[in-house]
Amino acid sequence: MSFRLDGKVAIVTGGGRGIGKAIARKFAECGANVVIASRKQENLEAAAKECEGLAGKVAPVRCHVGRADELKKLVEETERLFGPVDVLVNNSATNLGQGPSLEVTDEALLKTLEINVLAAHRLIRLVVPGMMARAQGGSVINIASIAGLRPQPGGLVYSSTKAALLMMTRVWAIEFGPHKIRVNAICPGLIQTDFSEYFWKDEEHMARLKVTQPLPHLGQPDEIAGMALYLACEESSFVTGTAMVVDGGATTR
Ligand SMILES: NC(=O)c1ccc[n+]([C@@H]2O[C@H](COP(=O)([O-])OP(=O)(O)OC[C@H]3O[C@@H](n4cnc5c(N)ncnc54)[C@H](OP(=O)(O)O)[C@@H]3O)[C@@H](O)[C@H]2O)c1
Repeated sequence: MSFRLDGKVAIVTGGGRGIGKAIARKFAECGANVVIASRKQENLEAAAKECEGLAGKVAPVRCHVGRADELKKLVEETERLFGPVDVLVNNSATNLGQGPSLEVTDEALLKTLEINVLAAHRLIRLVVPGMMARAQGGSVINIASIAGLRPQPGGLVYSSTKAALLMMTRVWAIEFGPHKIRVNAICPGLIQTDFSEYFWKDEEHMARLKVTQPLPHLGQPDEIAGMALYLACEESSFVTGTAMVVDGGATTR
């Protein structure tokens, strides 16, 4: 059967809502046991409950991805619940410094780097050595953004953290490829989640999008989950180091 993840174990950070939740559900539909991790236990528990009865299990683990000790516990708890990790999705993100670059504080930049970049680095260091030792391959999926591909005024902090994640994805892909561990990024365009409501609640922004975006609808989390499934499973066995753009064609112009 195609596009299956039976017997695989996945971690999806930020899996309690939005894109992460859609990815976790898709993975569980396809047979993976998935740990979803973020700060808000109630979101995690509700998301896990919605997935009851699917082919794979979904378990909530509370974790602030900016804290090294909590990331370590997340991996340990995942191994205790389901076994070693085959698929890691670095999806949690924040955007603390939107606005003119001259007004960006050190704190906003450092904090956003910690969540959007350092957490992925730390999780990879916790998970990939085990993947290498088991010699069964693995897949890491980093949720970046089209904002990491092209600059926007006011987007210094967010865009530069996502651009960093894209370059790190390529370096990791080179280093881990010989171990059959694939590392890819997804660059979503505008997707309807809490994170992006500033844009999709803005009528002018949406009017512009409807004219300039070749597929003129507002993207939905499920439309990212399909790409994540592809990158997680064997069907993408020759794909690494890429940035898969899923944006309704927004970056064609
Ligand atoms: N929506 C878009 O238009 C869009 C476009 C391009 C890229 N993206 C990317 O897609 C990914 C998912 O975003 P989304 O749109 O689904 O937004 P969302 O619904 O707001 O989800 C963000 C997730 O990140 C988690 N998170 C934030 N800070 C965290 C922390 N310190 N520790 C652990 N988890 C944390 C949140 O959970 P808690 O609050 O429970 O911690 C939440 O689950 C992000 O990487 C974002 O940059 C989104």
